[in-house]
Amino acid sequence: MKIKVLEGKNPFAYGEVVSGRYFYDRTEVCADIVNSVKSRLNLVILGSRRYGKTSLVHAALDVLRNQGYTCVYFDLMRVASLEDFANRYAAVLYRESGAFAKGVHALSSLFRSLKPVIGMASDGSPEIALRAAPRQMTPENFEEVLDLPEKLAGKRKLVVVLDEFQELCAQSSRVNVEKIMRSVIQFHKRVQYVFLGSKTHILKRMFMSRARPFYNSVKVITVAKPPLDEGMDFLRNGFRSGRISLSENVAAYLLERSDNIPYYTQAIASEIFQTVALRSDRKVAREDVDRAVWSMLNKKRDYYEVLFSSFSVSQRNLMKAIASEPTGRFTETYCREHALGLNSSANTALKQLVDGGHVDTVNRIHHVSDPIFRLWMCE
Ligand SMILES: Nc1ncnc2c1ncn2[C@@H]1O[C@H](COP(=O)(O)OP(=O)(O)O)[C@@H](O)[C@H]1O
Ligand SMILES: [Mg+2]
Repeated sequence: MKIKVLEGKNPFAYGEVVSGRYFYDRTEVCADIVNSVKSRLNLVILGSRRYGKTSLVHAALDVLRNQGYTCVYFDLMRVASLEDFANRYAAVLYRESGAFAKGVHALSSLFRSLKPVIGMASDGSPEIALRAAPRQMTPENFEEVLDLPEKLAGKRKLVVVLDEFQELCAQSSRVNVEKIMRSVIQFHKRVQYVFLGSKTHILKRMFMSRARPFYNSVKVITVAKPPLDEGMDFLRNGFRSGRISLSENVAAYLLERSDNIPYYTQAIASEIFQTVALRSDRKVAREDVDRAVWSMLNKKRDYYEVLFSSFSVSQRNLMKAIASEPTGRFTETYCREHALGLNSSANTALKQLVDGGHVDTVNRIHHVSDPIFRLWMCE
């Protein structure tokens, strides 16, 4: 049997930071980020998971690097503890700021209690770490770590991006991360901070509630879904580059199935491209979109089963209700029709699901944030 292989590259990519021809739209919000940093404002960028915040901020960092900024990107998603954060943050700062050349001895003088040592990165290259980081972070140690960017900046203009920032604040009850962070960075003259996160409700409470340390201290930028026509152009150009035709109607249908969320748009398009590129008609039909969606669902079935079973009974009921009928309010009729019990318990479950990023509220209507998961629940 002859196996057909794709000619050329698939023009769609997902699951990683995208740039260049894999990246569409976002010019306005990208310019807003760049100009805000240049105006010396600290920022928080809010937007649901998979809307493209990380890719967007990388695009903005590219522009800033070209304009002479030193940029440090740090992802907090995989940080296990404050101690782990301290070590990894210091290592990234040393590496990106070129501080390595200064030598460990010189760097030691920046710390009162945390001593840097030479370690080895996973690729075998030397790396500076805080081997002497305490087993239990104290507020004083944490302050020292947070002060590092300003100390290492020298004459440079430094931008520090902390992605999925809410995860850091969830780390420890011993150390008040928010309070210390706010009090340390307000004295930083050479460093701009960009906080980023998908758990928008948690971040909104953090940055927009009067009682919280960060209140009113940063500019808030919201990353919404991209305009439909930009998605449409992106899809049609992508398929055209592979000599495949995609009508406006079918492109609109694809965006409907992906909820116009960039990650799902790219994932579905990539799946379609793989099959249609091997066919002689080289034309995308609605059925191709449906097939791609089902194929994604089948690949993620195990994951969805595990995820769903991790929810409490009231969360499960609520997810199923919202999946079949998105709503803004849990009226008595809605609760009765979906067997949700009391509306107060529905609201508690809702808050947990929203904080967990499973439910998204757009224009005051609650939706399941993953359109493929929604389909799985409605099967
Ligand atoms: N501007 C964009 N153009 C095209 N695809 C995008 C864009 N932004 C994001 N994506 C798609 O969404 C996926 C997730 O993007 P990411 O930046 O990681 O989102 P977030 O950080 O908001 O979760 C990317 O891998 C890519 O497939
Ligand atoms: Mg991200």
